[in-house]
This record gives sequence, C-alpha cells and structure tokens, in this order.
Amino acid sequence: MPGRVEGKVAFITGAARGQGRSHAVRLAEEGADIIAVDICKPLDGVSFAMSTPEDLQETVSQVEKLGRRIVAAEADVRDHDALKGAVDDGVRQLGRLDIVCANAGIGSTGGRMHEMDEKTWRDTIDINLTGVWQTAKVSIPHLIAGGRGGSIILTSSVGGLRGHANIGHYIAAKHGVVGLMRTLAWELGEHNIRVNSLHPSQVNTPMVMHEGTYKMFRPDLENPTVDDFAEASQVMHLLPVPWVEARDVSNAVLYLASDEGRYVTGSTQTIDAGAMLK
Ligand SMILES: NC(=O)c1ccc[n+]([C@@H]2O[C@H](COP(=O)([O-])OP(=O)(O)OC[C@H]3O[C@@H](n4cnc5c(N)ncnc54)[C@H](O)[C@@H]3O)[C@@H](O)[C@H]2O)c1
Repeated sequence: MPGRVEGKVAFITGAARGQGRSHAVRLAEEGADIIAVDICKPLDGVSFAMSTPEDLQETVSQVEKLGRRIVAAEADVRDHDALKGAVDDGVRQLGRLDIVCANAGIGSTGGRMHEMDEKTWRDTIDINLTGVWQTAKVSIPHLIAGGRGGSIILTSSVGGLRGHANIGHYIAAKHGVVGLMRTLAWELGEHNIRVNSLHPSQVNTPMVMHEGTYKMFRPDLENPTVDDFAEASQVMHLLPVPWVEARDVSNAVLYLASDEGRYVTGSTQTIDAGAMLK
C-alpha cells in the first residue's frame, strides 16, 4: 500500500533530534526521502545540552532502517550559503523537493524586555525567525522549478499566537513566523505551493525537558522536578495531559504535507491540548 507522501522529498531543519527527527521518521514511514540539516553544536545562551553529530547520524539510521534515502548535512540556518548548499545537494541526489519543514529553533534564557541584552534578542530572532525565512528562501526555487506544487510548514508555537512574560525574544520571533507564513501563502498560492504554521504547546523534547524549564514553570519551588513541571504545565491545557509528544506534531506535518491537506494554506495549526482556549 503506498504511503501518504510516497515518492516525495522533504527538507527538514533541526533534524538531529526532537521534533525534527520525529518529522523525518514519520514522513519516511509514509514514503518520503529526506534532506536533513542541523547545526549539531552548543549555542550561546542555551542552557541545556544541544544536539551532536551523533544525534544527526541517529536520524540518518532511523530513516534508512525504513528503507528511505536521506541526505544529511551539518549547517546553521543563519548561514544562507551553507543552507543553500545543503538543499541544492539534497535535491541533486534525491531528484526533487516537495515538502519543507522549517523546524530548527532555540529556547534561550530570557528576562524582562527592558533588561534583555541585545545578543540574547538577536540570536533568537536570527535563528527562530530569520533562519525560517532563509530555509524558505533556499527551498522555494526548487519547489517552483518542480512544477508540482508543494507544502511549506513553518514551526511556530502557542507562543506565536499569544504573549508571555520573560521570553519576549522567543514570542516576537514566533509571532514573526506567522507573518512570514501568511506572506508566503499569498506569494506562492499561484504555484500551488501551500504554506502553514504549526503551534504546539509544550512538547516532550530536550528543549523543555530540563531544569531551566522546570524552574520557569515552578518559580515557587527551589528544586522543581519533572513532576512539579508536569503539574503546572497541565494547568495550561484543556485536555488532561502536561505536554504533547513530538509524534503528535509530526502527524500534523504529515497531514499538511500530504494531498489530504491539498487545499489548506495560510492556516495556523495548533497542537496544544486546548491551550489556546485558556
Ligand atoms: N519543545 C517545545 O515545547 C516546543 C513548543 C513549541 C514550539 N517548539 C519549536 O519546535 C521546534 C523544534 O524544537 P524541539 O522541541 O524539537 O527542540 P530540540 O532542541 O530538541 O530540537 C531543535 C533542533 O534544532 C537545531 N537547531 C537549533 N538552532 C539551529 C541552527 N541555527 N541551525 C540549524 N539547526 C539548529 C538544534 O540543534 C536541535 O537539534 C523549534 O522551532 C521550537 O522553537 C518547541
């Protein structure tokens, strides 16, 4: 039985672990080949461990075990030429491009907006917003040249639809992704290229599963545990869950990437256990 994205090629940034790896595996399960990019090194201002070249290799192994092809490269989404080189090389090897997941992002230590230093602000805007634009920019010529339409999926956040204190750099970048998505949907509709954004609540990935997040959610406790975090996180949701899994987000990616989502463009897709209603 053919898969839901059989024969298509997907370009995914931030693919070494977390949601990016999950998207690669989910799309490969349904028949896609993958172009995977990740920076695979520590980043300024990020207090938790970042991904490694071994993590990216693990994504490669998991996709190959599914019988699909994958072209992986270490590249920074802030580096236009490196990103372009990676997608150009992937398309040369795999023959086409259909799906783009601009997923790479960081969560760095924040603070009040009037006290935040410029580097903290810039690093997050550069990766979480400019990096998303550059991912789209280097991909769009391939999608148009293919003449088969396409699906561009930009990872925002619940924080791209509403505000929060102390992470204004992240909130501003993720709101910016929505503006970019809406602009691209206008610009690319005539090519049958659809553009949508994803808005997950807390996702069970290394970005949130560390002490820094536990403390952010439980400032009332000196040494909060993951269970203390879960309690506070669940209060944000209508459904009785503290977070969603990466695969839940990947299933939304699969719908938007496949022909099932063929007339969906310009939408903000929440995967948030009802958080946006609270
Ligand atoms: N985890 C959450 O709770 C959550 C919620 C909403 C949105 N998001 C967003 O989802 C996306 C994926 O995050 P995740 O939860 O999988 O976290 P993660 O930290 O596990 O994965 C992010 C990946 O992006 C890569 N990356 C970071 N900066 C990069 C750069 N400059 N160039 C290339 N790669 C880079 C990292 O190396 C890492 O492998 C991010 O955009 C994040 O902001 C996460």
